Amino acid sequence: MIRINENYRKLQSSYLFSDIAKRVAAFQQANPDKKIIRLGIGDVTRALPKACIKALHAATDEMARDSSFRGYGPEQGYDFLREAIAQHDFQARGANVQADEVFVSDGAKCDTGNIQELFSLDCKVAVPDPVYPVYVDTNVMAGRAGDWNKATGRYDGLVYLDGNQANGFIPALPTQPVDLIYLCFPNNPTGSTATKAQLQQWVDYARANQALILFDAAYEAFITDPALPHSIYEVEGAREVAIEFRSFSKTAGFTGTRCAYTIVPKECVAYTASGEAVPLHALWNRRHTTKFNGVSYPIQRAAAAVFSPAGQAQVKELIGYYLNNAKYIREKMTALGYACIGGENSPYIWIDGKTDSWAFFDKLLNAAAVVCTPGAGFGKCGEGYIRISAFNSFENVQEAMTRIGAIL
Ligand code: MLT
Repeated sequence: MIRINENYRKLQSSYLFSDIAKRVAAFQQANPDKKIIRLGIGDVTRALPKACIKALHAATDEMARDSSFRGYGPEQGYDFLREAIAQHDFQARGANVQADEVFVSDGAKCDTGNIQELFSLDCKVAVPDPVYPVYVDTNVMAGRAGDWNKATGRYDGLVYLDGNQANGFIPALPTQPVDLIYLCFPNNPTGSTATKAQLQQWVDYARANQALILFDAAYEAFITDPALPHSIYEVEGAREVAIEFRSFSKTAGFTGTRCAYTIVPKECVAYTASGEAVPLHALWNRRHTTKFNGVSYPIQRAAAAVFSPAGQAQVKELIGYYLNNAKYIREKMTALGYACIGGENSPYIWIDGKTDSWAFFDKLLNAAAVVCTPGAGFGKCGEGYIRISAFNSFENVQEAMTRIGAIL
């Protein structure tokens, strides 16, 4: 008898953004004439930078000629992209990352979800709360999260690190031993950012406890404060205890074209039951080459164009555009009397809705035809909050805020 992976039955409802999409589709069906403004899922709306499009066209033309056609590429990514990433995103900021430590992939969502395969099922996993649901759900699927506990509204096997207004949504270090720690800065969903000193505490903790940090930096391009670190490898000792995830999705508008990467430093290790240190670089390389066939050549060329002088200027303009939306949203919500964080070094504004977050979501959808994301979807500590995303045109953001202002 074919049996299912029963861990899947422990997952709570459907994936957050699928749930939201269903509610929005139902609303649209019932109100076909209403123009819905989507400030929910963090999906970019502006065109790819011109430098990327130019590179994409040129690479597509190469594929049209037998003399320059390419079939399978290296699973880890082409050298031209891995080298550009190592140089521009890390070495230029004083972070020691080498090209062969870069693994190009089709998304940070996939990588942050897949990475847990490398670790033992009895690893103790710590997740911030609120949190990007992928970290939790993929550990549930693997059987590392234990049972869902209705009374606590949490999985019994996970260690939750509470974020709240008092700690500025930067959770404190765990008070019980943990092995794997997920961190995300600038944070999704709260938009909070971590200073170098704060990241140093986590790195020191991981080093002292033979733990590993899974650092999601998908939103680093939104950092405007020059004092804030963009990479965990700007922190001393991080190479031994941290894996970092990055993406071109939000940086350069690649949500539809797909390109991301993960850094696994050669010094980074995890241990066998007998205490032998095993380099994670070799394990991830084995997994990546077995289960992934690489991002397409034209897309990697388009991603590499981000690092050209024209690409850099265009990306800066793109990020500035969304940050201007974020500033506007934050100002308007603050003026309406709502406490907000984020939106300064992040495309997300995290708002204390002062009520049940799904009720707030429904109110914005039904009365204003504006989609946000209910904070409760990111965990128990998200209850009472909503997240508004800055990814849309400025005109739509203005209209959304006018509509919201009229109903609140
Ligand atoms: C979000 O809205 O949290 C993100 O867009 C989800 C993602 O990047 O997968």
